[in-house]
Amino acid sequence: MRILFIGDVVGAPGRKMVETYLPKLRSKYQPTLTIVNGENASHGKGINEKITRNLKQWGAQAITMGNHTWDNKEIFDFIDDVPQMVRPANFPENTPGQGYTLIKVNDVEFGIVNMQGRTFMPPLDCPFRKADEIITQLKKRTPYIFVDFHAEATSEKQAMGWYLDGRVSAVIGTHTHVQTADERILPDGTAFLSDVGMTGPYDGILGMSKEAVLKKFLTSLPVRFEVEKGREQLSGVVIDLERNTGHATKISRIQINEDRPFFD
Ligand SMILES: [Fe+2]
Ligand SMILES: [Fe+2]
Repeated sequence: MRILFIGDVVGAPGRKMVETYLPKLRSKYQPTLTIVNGENASHGKGINEKITRNLKQWGAQAITMGNHTWDNKEIFDFIDDVPQMVRPANFPENTPGQGYTLIKVNDVEFGIVNMQGRTFMPPLDCPFRKADEIITQLKKRTPYIFVDFHAEATSEKQAMGWYLDGRVSAVIGTHTHVQTADERILPDGTAFLSDVGMTGPYDGILGMSKEAVLKKFLTSLPVRFEVEKGREQLSGVVIDLERNTGHATKISRIQINEDRPFFD
């Protein structure tokens, strides 16, 4: 059992990388389940229906989101019709969409959960208590549970990893767009990585144009951020799971860019 997870797809450069490399990665790693974080897939902010369809065509069997979930208003027209998409589960009660889902692959069910952190982020329900609630439900169906924890602070991400250790297969961080090198299997069998990194421009600042972000830092004036152009990168992670227990046995990071080319 193997999960391939691709970090935050940013705009056209990110989509191009997914289209080019996701099929290659899938044939190289043969994952049972492929998950893509799509919160920045449409011009760096949100996602639309066409891109959702494209990500699925290119190999995504589930799509996770984050704080940018609602930035492309088109999402309100389709989110409730896409059972493969999850937005943070600790958004307010009755928010459109769903916070977790079950995906069936070859008769095996996988639980996919999306949760958002609260440190240096807008206030939301407690992600730890929400995780308890959801995992209790999912555990009745499957031991294979993947959590995308969309959070800013490494401390909150590590806390979630330890909190869920032994109860889920993996807690993988998203949102900060820079891949961390702290991948590990926690003592009770949960794979953990503070941040998987993003898939999009290689030369921007978190995917956005250098000039705009620098102007913001230098002047504090309001600035319109655009997705950076030029070279691209892809960030991901592969997690192997033990049958029956759902515990992780191996976690490996993936980075593809001009300095780290892809090999079959
Ligand atoms: Fe993001
Ligand atoms: Fe985010």
